[in-house]
Amino acid sequence: MPQTRSAALYQRALGVLPGGVSRNAVLRRPHPSYASHGAGCRVWDLEGVERIDFANNMAALIHGHAHPAVVEAVVRQVQRGTAYTLATEQEVEYAEYLCARGGFDRVRFVNSGTEAVMTCVKAARAFTGRPKIAKVEGAYHGLYDYAEVSQTAQPGNWGPGDKPASVPVAHGTPQSALDEVIVLPFNDPPGAQALLDRNAGDLACVLLDPMPHRVGLVPATPGFVKAMREWCDRHGALLVFDEVITFRSSYGGAQEWYAERPDLTALGKIIGGGFPVGAIAGRAEVMEVLDPLAARVRLPHSGTYSANPVTMVAGHTAMRLFDRQEVERVNALAARARARIEEAIALAGVSAVVSGAGSMFRIHLRSSPPRDYREAYNGPEDAARVKLVLDHLFESGFLMINSFSGTISTPMSEREIDLLAEAVLNGFRLLAERHPEARRTS
Ligand SMILES: Cc1ncc(COP(=O)(O)O)c(C=O)c1O
Repeated sequence: MPQTRSAALYQRALGVLPGGVSRNAVLRRPHPSYASHGAGCRVWDLEGVERIDFANNMAALIHGHAHPAVVEAVVRQVQRGTAYTLATEQEVEYAEYLCARGGFDRVRFVNSGTEAVMTCVKAARAFTGRPKIAKVEGAYHGLYDYAEVSQTAQPGNWGPGDKPASVPVAHGTPQSALDEVIVLPFNDPPGAQALLDRNAGDLACVLLDPMPHRVGLVPATPGFVKAMREWCDRHGALLVFDEVITFRSSYGGAQEWYAERPDLTALGKIIGGGFPVGAIAGRAEVMEVLDPLAARVRLPHSGTYSANPVTMVAGHTAMRLFDRQEVERVNALAARARARIEEAIALAGVSAVVSGAGSMFRIHLRSSPPRDYREAYNGPEDAARVKLVLDHLFESGFLMINSFSGTISTPMSEREIDLLAEAVLNGFRLLAERHPEARRTS
């Protein structure tokens, strides 16, 4: 008989949900941990165990859980109805706010990051009349057929470094979809340009996450962004940024790091204030493809729950609270986390390194930060070592993103960071004990 409520729930879940889950990210062995409730930067499971939350629903929560102002705004809205077949004042107000904050001319709301990226790609095709897209090898952009190409590439199928293969994620992905996607090496301007040149007349856009998480959580270099911007301008293609995660990095998103601006930006995660959301934002001339009043409507676009007022008030409240001062404060806490983890690495004498910027960090069990997806890729042995430390952190009361990444939320203080660093140190000591080969040699 199952021993715990979570174990018993998982038995029931296996009978009705494939693999017992609705999203793969929450799967744990022998069973997922089931949440009871959260408050601030802490989450409790059904067994009553409290953990400090560095996962923040996969980087989507900037204020942690149940921020009183967000709760109040949502409750007030829910009592007035959650969605109507009518436009709302809330969507106009939030659109004005986001445009001013991010320096966008226009925005359109959708319901997820996947949908935001998909809509950007379709808008780029509608604007240019071209079919192909280019994306960085290994970058995660959600589940759209084209955007997910190469996301799970492995040494056996990723092909040559100067011409990465268009590897499908889902079995049964049409070859025609793969043929429309050019996979680029990250932070390699000449290598990427050579591949783009071969497809110049067919490319609608270059899709770029300024700090792609799976590629190693290392920022795109200014030189790479400049090269992509210039290539797009030269060849009439659009530069699309996926800032679904990175918008938390600066007040106006990670695009503030660069001199060049994208034509379109996909947004999601934190802009929903804890509710499902996505948005596509950008230049008026490009966003016009979505205009249903245009003489020629190039991209008809709908969504039953798009811009629902609950998401709008939650997101607007959360983003107002995440003002310039708070952006700076969480970024400073993340810098402290990166520094304290570097100290733990030195003290434990393991071969590891920390990457990241803004309010995020990722730990790699290698001696230098990965330069691209191939270097960030964990084979089965690396994955087992990462799992050992992550399991230790989980057992010690910390929720992390399963790629060994963490994100800061505003309820955190130096205390939570220091507690994490201490637990990471113990995790590394355990790693060195169990896997002597993980020790630093030099
Ligand atoms: C960079 C990036 N783009 C797009 C997505 C997809 O967002 P969603 O899960 O809301 O569909 C994610 C999700 O993790 C992401 O990290």
